[in-house]
Formats: sequence, structure tokens, C-alpha cells
Amino acid sequence: MPLPAGSQPARLVVLVSGSGTNLQALLDACADPAYGARVVAVGADREDIEGLARAERAGIPTFVRAVSAFETREGWDASLATVVERFEPDLVVSAGFMKLLSQEFLDRFLTLNTHPALCPAFPGMHGPRDALEHGVKVTGATLFVVDAGVDTGPIVAQVPVEVHEDDDVEALHERIKAAERAMLVDAVGRIARGGIEVEGRRVRIGAAAR
Ligand code: GRF
Repeated sequence: MPLPAGSQPARLVVLVSGSGTNLQALLDACADPAYGARVVAVGADREDIEGLARAERAGIPTFVRAVSAFETREGWDASLATVVERFEPDLVVSAGFMKLLSQEFLDRFLTLNTHPALCPAFPGMHGPRDALEHGVKVTGATLFVVDAGVDTGPIVAQVPVEVHEDDDVEALHERIKAAERAMLVDAVGRIARGGIEVEGRRVRIGAAAR
């Protein structure tokens, strides 16, 4: 199944809240026309973050919608949807975007998110910390289709990462992020070129989706 809008190269809107290394990996991949996608805009929920600076250096339009600038969460979410819509995305990629999106937003845009743990284990804001505290020997990263829950949506791709005995949260998260970026770039490219099919919890991407 092609992406809903089906344009080639596929149009990505990327949402960020922080350092934007996942965004950078996508920007680098999109520099190759054979990748099949391009980042048409980058949005954030806060100003002055490296993620926005990366977009600006790449000459990509940016927008910021801070929750605090709106009277209600619904107002924020609707404004975010309006600005995202302007860029006519085939796919929205939430790459380290630390806000939950409403069902209305998710009904309008096919949205993927990355999480630094192997879902359904360790959902929420502290995936690497929770994995370390639990004492697991293998954790990783998950790319999923965002649904109304917290890191609960249908799984698109996963990558395992070993936990080392001397890991602290930062070292573990950095190693997860390296694997996460490669997984994200690979999966988004396959979706851009070959489509995505979501049937209940089962997701097929690339050639398998056609
Ligand atoms: C990633 O590990 C993402 O999964 C998590 O926050 C990190 C964002 O990193 N939610 P970056 O902003 O892409 O560098």
C-alpha cells in the first residue's frame, strides 16, 4: 500500500523537542535522491533547541508551537495540526518529540514515533533508565505507529542493543540512539519507497506492503 498521499519523494514533517540527532540522520539520508523522501518542514514544542538549528542550517522551514502559548491543550493540538497540514506531509515523524498528540491529530496524519526501548517494555519518558534499573541484558529501540496510548502503537521496526555491566543511563542511551537512528532511516526509507500497511497490530513496510 503506498503512503496515503503517495507523492514521490515522500514528504516528511519531522517533530522534535531536543538535540535532533534522529532528525539529522533523516536529513542526511534525504540528501540522496534514491532515498525516496524529503523533509519538508521541522516542528518543535519549544524554541532554542539544536533540532531547530539543524533544520535551519539545512534550509528547511521550521515552526514552533509551545503548549504554554495556548489556553488549552486542545487549542495547542489543533494549531499544530493546522501548521503541519500546510506542508502536506505523507508521513509525520515524531523524532524525540516529547508531547502526546491527540486522536484528531493522529486521524489526520500517519505519525511514527521512536522510543528508546523494546516496546512493550519500558514505555514513557525514561526508557533507558527503567531498562537499566530493571537489570535487563538487552534493550533497544522501537519505531511504531502512534496511537492514543504512551508508546503502545503497532510496531514498525525494532533494534536490539546490549546492556553493558558498566553502563550508566547516559552511555546506554547514547548506544541506543546510534542503533535507533539507523533503524529509523532504514524503515522510513522503505516506507517512502514501498509504502506501509497497518492491519490491527501487524505492520508491513516496503515491498511486503504492496
Ligand atoms: C531519542 O532516543 C528518542 O527515542 C527519545 O529521545 C531521544 C531524542 O534524541 N524520545 P534526538 O533529539 O533525536 O537526538
